[in-house]
Amino acid sequence: MSAKVATEIVGLQLRNPFILAAGILGISGQTLRRVAEAGAGAVVTKSLGLEPRIGFPNPTIVETPCGLLNAMGLPNPGLGVLREEVEEARKTNVPVIASVYGCCESDYAEAASLAEKAGADAVELNVSCPHVKEVGKQIGQDPDAVASVTASVKGRVKFPVIVKLTPNVTDIVGIAKKTAEAGADAIAAINTVSGISIDIDVQRPILAAGAGGLSGPAIKPIALRCIYEIHSEVDIPLVGCGGITTWSDAVEFFLAGASAVQVGTAIMYRGLEVFSELEKGVKEYLESKRFESISQLVGLACRNGS
Ligand code: FUM
Repeated sequence: MSAKVATEIVGLQLRNPFILAAGILGISGQTLRRVAEAGAGAVVTKSLGLEPRIGFPNPTIVETPCGLLNAMGLPNPGLGVLREEVEEARKTNVPVIASVYGCCESDYAEAASLAEKAGADAVELNVSCPHVKEVGKQIGQDPDAVASVTASVKGRVKFPVIVKLTPNVTDIVGIAKKTAEAGADAIAAINTVSGISIDIDVQRPILAAGAGGLSGPAIKPIALRCIYEIHSEVDIPLVGCGGITTWSDAVEFFLAGASAVQVGTAIMYRGLEVFSELEKGVKEYLESKRFESISQLVGLACRNGS
């Protein structure tokens, strides 16, 4: 029996459910294209704002056991570059999702509208950057603010709206519920987990910004728990993100309720080959367990679990 890894999410047809996560290599049309050519099912751009932003001074990234801690400060050239990026990445026929951020509802609505006009296939609202206070943190940790941003964006654009949530809250399920009620087409979970690394020689935090966001295998169980709990309460598609490195990680996320997964830090460990490795491994798993498609896995562990 031959199993199918092609799938659909928010109306986007994906040749596989493995999506490049925001912020990793999505810094130009050429890099997005390279990732798509390496086998990603869709690509998400670096988070873009209405104006260019320099970001934080170095050091902005440090390796920790089983992960990376980053505080880049959302450096980006602004949404003006998006049309060119989309045109370049599109040469591969892979959907391009624009990640956008803002400081208030109207910023997000304007940014999403510009992304739609630039030709992106969908928008991902970054309401979850853990260390840029006025952007991610203040909005993403407030359920009503996330809902208002989502509703404003939905009122302004016609293409699909995905909202990327932060795990740095006590009740991500409550926020997910409000996000879905506000009209989001899908939820991506999770963005990075807030953390600090300290240099014991100079006795100060290593990152110039102090705290940063942890990604990679260290956060996989947290991300998986978030997807599992959200899937049990919320009825819109979920995109899993957080530490997915191997095909079995991806299978765990599908079983917990994700319809697709994003891959970021794993590229540092396994190179761009990670996308073809994930596709091959998941296809073999489906066939060995006699499933015909990924949709048959989605949420199965929630239905089988306690
Ligand atoms: O610092 C950064 O640019 C990180 C952004 C994010 O985690 O969303």
